[in-house]
Amino acid sequence: MVAKSKKKPLTPAEAKAKAVAKAKVIAPDVPARIGQTPENDLRGLPDVFGRLVEDHDRHRALLAMIEATNGADEERHALFEELVRELKSHAAAEEQALWSTVLRNPETTEFARHAVAEHKQIDKMLDDLAARDMGKRKWMERFGDLKEEYLHHIREEEQEQFVESAKILSDADRQHMRAVFERRKKEEKAAAEMTPKLKIKAIA
Ligand SMILES: [Fe+2]
Ligand SMILES: [Fe+2]
Repeated sequence: MVAKSKKKPLTPAEAKAKAVAKAKVIAPDVPARIGQTPENDLRGLPDVFGRLVEDHDRHRALLAMIEATNGADEERHALFEELVRELKSHAAAEEQALWSTVLRNPETTEFARHAVAEHKQIDKMLDDLAARDMGKRKWMERFGDLKEEYLHHIREEEQEQFVESAKILSDADRQHMRAVFERRKKEEKAAAEMTPKLKIKAIA
């Protein structure tokens, strides 16, 4: 039997608008031009995948907003700190709620392993950016590398790894995982902090 969810599905446009509004709370005056997002059938679903895509859209907005800031102004600092805490807590909660289960099924081990390995690389880039001068032009170049890496990561999750995971999960699993994700994300975000550390060589 399929477990009943109290949540109603949102349309993709409603789900995206809700996610962008959450990012805008940090700096309401900074534009969040996320443009076209890659197609997927998961946006707005009342299960773990809809919830994860909502976070991804929130992250797309934060990335676009940081790019719209100038120099080392207050808003850039606040948005970058929010991005770090969001990305770290999202990745940890995603691993606990979804990837741990997907990892132990031999049919999907490889998909989970791929996503988790990318989390590690993204963490390294965040630590490196946190250790550098945000007012410099080079900082924005390095930030551009992080943005590219992260957009690649979430597009691939939405179009490949989530799709493959959905094949081995029941509706009840997907709803239960949403609740686990919600709880873990809150706790992880409360504990998340910037951990500045130079880890990536100079760029030419
Ligand atoms: Fe991820
Ligand atoms: Fe994700």
